[in-house]
Amino acid sequence: MIKKLNLLVVAVLILSAQQVISQEWLVPADKQNVKNPSEFNLENVKKGKEIYIRECKSCHGDAGKHNGLALVPPPPDVTSKIMQDNTDGELFYKMSTGKGVMPKFDVILSESDRWFLVNYIKNYNPEITPLLVEAPPVKANLTASIDGSTRVVTVSAGFQNKKGEKENLTETPVNICVERAFGDLPVGQVLTDDKGTASFKLPENVIGDEEGFVKVVVSLGEDFEAKKVTLEKAKIGIPKETPQLIRKGVIWSTNENIPLWMLLSYLGAIGGAWLTILYVVIQIVKIKKLSAK
Ligand code: HEC
Repeated sequence: MIKKLNLLVVAVLILSAQQVISQEWLVPADKQNVKNPSEFNLENVKKGKEIYIRECKSCHGDAGKHNGLALVPPPPDVTSKIMQDNTDGELFYKMSTGKGVMPKFDVILSESDRWFLVNYIKNYNPEITPLLVEAPPVKANLTASIDGSTRVVTVSAGFQNKKGEKENLTETPVNICVERAFGDLPVGQVLTDDKGTASFKLPENVIGDEEGFVKVVVSLGEDFEAKKVTLEKAKIGIPKETPQLIRKGVIWSTNENIPLWMLLSYLGAIGGAWLTILYVVIQIVKIKKLSAK
């Protein structure tokens, strides 16, 4: 009887788990056909794109690249059928209310921002002529070096034109970052000149490692396909202070932190325990000797 009951419980659990995973995302009827109050024009699509890159790309990936995060269920690509089968009203409702891992954005983004996002997503609808056509990223190459004494990073960027000739990458923003444990921390941006070069003086207040070494990372923007350059460590930063997290004598965690009275009482307690054990053992031996007589 109990076994059967167990089986039943397991079956119900499996079924309900499947229910959760395959559950359709239902949108109330009155929300499905809400019209987008912001006009579908290039300006609004671009506004939507900006917000998308900031708030959504980390999970949903780049439009058309199907490189979203591997979540269950996966965040669909903007261009996917799952996404594009939604009406404007459904998109707005879903991004506002969220579901599972998908956050609810009604408190994070204003209503007009969410409608700009709808415009951006609709830009990829197969039935609509897109307003925003993204040029494929230009393949570029980037070199950089740093002068430790002047703190100046020198950058040079070029690309191959359609004829296969090398050209300078002019008037192009280059990002200068400092490598940190959690990722690259931007410290500035420079534009390349007509020779494709640029230089950037690193600010004085960059914090380095314990000895003041900093790793500078140089990269191009999204429109370019170029390897970022990580420069050799240079001693140009302020040495990072490693704070002593525990005040001396407060917590007994390291030898230098232990107060003397605690060390002595600890040793005393241990010694006492051993003496007691020894005493008991001696008594047992004595009893044995006595009983043997
Ligand atoms: C933390 C990760 C994450 C972020 C950030 C995120 N999403 Fe999602 N999104 C998901 C996941 C996961 C799903 C799939 C949810 C499901 O089907 O249960 C989803 C689904 C959706 C859907 C519904 C697709 C469908 O099934 O019809 C829309 C629309 C959507 N996201 C829009 C956005 C927009 C717009 C943003 C930015 C404002 C955003 N998402 C940010 C994870 C995310």
